[in-house]
Amino acid sequence: MPVIAPVRLVDVAALGDSQVTVVESEHGKLAVGLSDGVPFAVSNRCRHLLASLGEGHVTADGCLECPWHAARYDVRDGKMVRGPQGAFKPIAGAVKGTLGARALKTYPVELREGAIWLVG
Ligand code: FES
Repeated sequence: MPVIAPVRLVDVAALGDSQVTVVESEHGKLAVGLSDGVPFAVSNRCRHLLASLGEGHVTADGCLECPWHAARYDVRDGKMVRGPQGAFKPIAGAVKGTLGARALKTYPVELREGAIWLVG
């Protein structure tokens, strides 16, 4: 089995206040960031209406929040933990149970040398 060299995705200092950004990778665009100091990388498209999740932000409780309608994801397993808000709030539970039932893809990452690395 071939050994895959780690790939430097982003410097932590470049994340800014949102604590997440979009990074182009061999897996396509990923939302890469820190949640409570722990690095994560997940597929970038929101399950609701495909917003770029890397343009959202990490909440105080460590979830990745969509920039369009504020659906939230657990970055550890990619599951939608809150459906879309605003005009979509009345159907948030239904969206979470249907579109959100398919978790975001998660990718193995490490934090070292002040950066987040893809390690698989
Ligand atoms: S596109 Fe993400 S919550 Fe609507």
